Amino acid sequence: MLYDDLPKRRRRSSPQPILPTVNAAHIIARKRDGLPLTDEEITWFLDGFVRQEVADYQMSALAMAILLRGMDDRETATLTRRMLESGVTLSWPESAGCYVDKHSTGGVGDKISLVLAPLLACCELRVPMISGRGLGATGGTLDKLESIPGFRTDLSLEEIRRLTDTVGCVITGASEELAPADRKLYALRDVTATVESIPLITASIMSKKLAEGLDALVLDVKHGSGAFMKTLEDARRLARSLASVGARMGVKTTALVSDMNQPTGRMAGNAVEVNEALETLAGAGPEDVRELTLALGAELLVAANRAQSRDEARTRLSAELDSGNALQKFRQMVHAQGGNLDAPRPVAPQSVILAEQSGYVAAIDAGRLGAAIVELGGGRKKVGDMVDHSVGLEMRVRRGDAIEAGQPLVRIFAKPADAEGIRAAVRQAIAIGDSPPQPLPLIVERIDGADPPIA
Ligand code: URA
Repeated sequence: MLYDDLPKRRRRSSPQPILPTVNAAHIIARKRDGLPLTDEEITWFLDGFVRQEVADYQMSALAMAILLRGMDDRETATLTRRMLESGVTLSWPESAGCYVDKHSTGGVGDKISLVLAPLLACCELRVPMISGRGLGATGGTLDKLESIPGFRTDLSLEEIRRLTDTVGCVITGASEELAPADRKLYALRDVTATVESIPLITASIMSKKLAEGLDALVLDVKHGSGAFMKTLEDARRLARSLASVGARMGVKTTALVSDMNQPTGRMAGNAVEVNEALETLAGAGPEDVRELTLALGAELLVAANRAQSRDEARTRLSAELDSGNALQKFRQMVHAQGGNLDAPRPVAPQSVILAEQSGYVAAIDAGRLGAAIVELGGGRKKVGDMVDHSVGLEMRVRRGDAIEAGQPLVRIFAKPADAEGIRAAVRQAIAIGDSPPQPLPLIVERIDGADPPIA
């Protein structure tokens, strides 16, 4: 549950702080009492936290007050700006073109970044994509790319600048210098039960993304069993908050709310997802991977004035996939980042789970499938765990499919003893019913950050 939902207590009035006399306890009390903080208060608090003049326990108390009382878009944008300005930001020459990126809130089988970054670079956009690692059930783009022998995800800021302008795209990890306040605050949120707050999540995500010095950003906010946001309503609220903060900070920002009630595509894991991304880059690949890539890419082409309409943008993007140009650009990016796409990417031995009954695939618990991959070693239980790139799952059925007893449901890539250990959990993640479930759209909603908020 998100705690912004809690009913607001009757608001007690607090005296307005006058800035030289402002102090941390006073600001915490104002937020505790449900009052909006001024830009000066947020700036004073956050900057003091970064300089270690505001103590960690005071920052934790403010985070809890924000989680319980929420923040409006203005407060959230100010918090985001202070977090962003706590570190270096990338800047680009005015004349050099249009810099864009995509952020996904994460899911199982989500390999869209691998396809989208080179595809956008084929359309003369520049993509300095800073991505994350997997933690828990959702996979991480960097882990997937590291299944390519030699691929470096620790580019320096100078390398990011150079390769973005020569190749057109990079995908790399965040350097220590980008938004250090987020790292410091996230470490506190993690141990004080204050992660699940929409304003804090928004400031955390947007401070890192906007440090890339972007002209336009598209957000893929997922809802469902394999997503960070389990309910559609929470995903919508996060999408609105992210898009509105992006627009307030002068970056053209739109968000798509998309379905994560089953893995994206057929493959989930690391090396197997790179293989599926390569198929998509070559103009084939699963329908949903291609569709989501085109929809997100079209947002950016229109925002960057490279297309008049989303339909025109899709035509251009489709042509770059079908011609093999996007695959060529991916090869170029991998090579520039030290990787060898022709070297073998080991995939573990296969075994199959068969359907025990006929019927329809009524539901898929993508979170449970993601957890099974973590159990195989394909993801992390805690920060710093080693990842086995060779393990994963292939979904042989999708939600709503009619199936016959004995038909393959899932292929497991793992050593036989490890595969045995997750078979029951994988089987339970796929519910078979007598009738087909209501179809769920892949893309539920589009939100433009520049649109007025819904009352
Ligand atoms: N991802 C982030 O980067 N930050 C959060 O707070 C939550 C998810």
